[in-house]
Amino acid sequence: MQTLSIGMRSILQLLLLCLAFVAVTQSSVCPRPPQEKGSELNGGHMFFEPGTEVTLSCMQGFTSSGGSRKITCKKNGHWTERELKCSPRRCPVPDSPENGKANISGIVYESVITYSCNEGFILYGANSSECLQTGKWSKPKPQCQSVTCNLPDIPQFAKIVYDKLFKDDTVEFGSGGTYHCLPPMVLVGNKRAICQADGKWTEPPECKLVTCPPPVPIDNGFLSFAENREHGYREKVRYGCMETYILDGSLEVECADTGLWDTLPTCRAPCKVDIERGRVVYKNRKYWIEDFKHNVLHGEEVIVYCLNKQKKCGYPVTMQCNDGVMNTPNCYDEPSAVTYNVRSGSLPSEIDKCT
Ligand SMILES: *[C@@H]1O[C@H](CO)[C@@H](O)[C@H](O)[C@H]1NC(C)=O
Ligand SMILES: *[C@@H]1O[C@H](CO)[C@@H](O)[C@H](O)[C@H]1NC(C)=O
Repeated sequence: MQTLSIGMRSILQLLLLCLAFVAVTQSSVCPRPPQEKGSELNGGHMFFEPGTEVTLSCMQGFTSSGGSRKITCKKNGHWTERELKCSPRRCPVPDSPENGKANISGIVYESVITYSCNEGFILYGANSSECLQTGKWSKPKPQCQSVTCNLPDIPQFAKIVYDKLFKDDTVEFGSGGTYHCLPPMVLVGNKRAICQADGKWTEPPECKLVTCPPPVPIDNGFLSFAENREHGYREKVRYGCMETYILDGSLEVECADTGLWDTLPTCRAPCKVDIERGRVVYKNRKYWIEDFKHNVLHGEEVIVYCLNKQKKCGYPVTMQCNDGVMNTPNCYDEPSAVTYNVRSGSLPSEIDKCT
């Protein structure tokens, strides 16, 4: 009984609360008029009784261009139509700096213009400016001044030949000169010096004495044209391979600016046909293996015949010599001595070819 009466009471309280809420919302006060179309209400009130009249004003950076400032809270909780016209303050149209550009996104209050200079010019002053509520730009137009470089550093053992005469020990953007090293020094790096848009020079080269060690022979090959001495930058030696070996790489090798020889060539080994009994095709000719006396050179091909057991026909399989290695295909069956000597006509190389 006790618990029930507590429950009843709380339900009653809830009901009363709801009634109070309905009463408040039915009275339809107006909310504070929002900032809109450049106008706003001063003061801190949040709600207004129906019939209240308030005076709007233009927001910061906006100026009035006519219309009544007054609005009234209507019975339904809405304000009457806003008539006050407020337009943003305008700043004068800015012009571009000489040898530069002004990026103009707008010329009203809070618009920002950004300035940039053409390549080879440096911006002095502010790179952006904002239209203030006073109708003035926050920063004056900057200046674009042409870039020059001071004379570049000359590396040791080098000299520079300028493209043209210059005055005041400065070189203008885009021009420059060419470095030369005093013999026997070798120029390593950038031969040209250019005054860049940031007023800095391109990376200068180095003058180095480059020597490569005496050239060394290669496996299964020889030096065909070389002296056994240190060599200078860009000097060349030549290599060759023993008979039946194939040279892989460059015949001529150069002394690089690192003081090392460029990549040496390799001599690739010939192959043996690893078949005891059978017939092969080499360079479009058929040989019984005992008559085959050729060296198969690196990269060359030899054909053997395999048997298609279902169709009882022979088909060719190509194998290639790769630096001394030439694998006989798995399908190849070495015939017995009897088959080979007595019934050679039954070998896959001799019967009908599969189509
Ligand atoms: C100009 O400025 C606007 C932003 O204000 C930017 O999106 C645009 O890329 C700029 N244009 C140039 C050419 O810098
Ligand atoms: C403009 O200048 C400010 C500092 O002065 C710098 O931080 C900013 O990177 C500059 N903007 C451009 C686009 O150069």
